[in-house]
Amino acid sequence: MPSPGKNPPPDKPHLDACRRCELWRNATQGVPGDGPRHARVMLVGEQPGAQEDQQGAPFVGPAGHMLDEALARAGLARDSVFMTNAVKHFKFELRGKRRLHKTPAQREVDACGYWLEKEIRDVDPDIIVALGATAARAVLGEKRVTLSTLMDTAVVHDGRVVIATYHPSFVLRQRDEAGRKAAFDRIVASLRHAVRTAAKQQR
Ligand code: URA
Repeated sequence: MPSPGKNPPPDKPHLDACRRCELWRNATQGVPGDGPRHARVMLVGEQPGAQEDQQGAPFVGPAGHMLDEALARAGLARDSVFMTNAVKHFKFELRGKRRLHKTPAQREVDACGYWLEKEIRDVDPDIIVALGATAARAVLGEKRVTLSTLMDTAVVHDGRVVIATYHPSFVLRQRDEAGRKAAFDRIVASLRHAVRTAAKQQR
């Protein structure tokens, strides 16, 4: 299985030089999407975390490990999907030496739309799984849509099936085991939905 981030796309230098918003100033590097260039399923998260920022690849930290488990449960091989984020630079606030995740502002999501749209065009997936509200809004281009209105229903947008679900870090934020299990199971159900949709489209 190829290791995430081992083959950065040719436009990584352009992403690193991106000045469409200010997030590049404090981030280590831009984190492009990773996966087969023509994957049928694309997963879109919010933004890279601290580990992704250092390694230059999406979903390689704790949320990524949670996502890997969900993918395995759903029977979707990680190396068959293209993983990316709505925002390509890590936004954080410093607490002592720790870099704590900060939700990107709408203007930063909008500015980064250039890169997400380019990835969607280049990979041309049939199915996009949006992980969390930021991703869903970025993919659908609807700033006010909420995750609760989208959960459990697939919508067709620009000719692609879009399935919105929880972000894997939502699982990690749950206080108890029952909450974690419920959130995790919802993500697995959404990924299974993506697998079924891909199988139907192949027939
Ligand atoms: N969270 C995201 O949304 N994306 C990552 O790549 C890692 C954590």
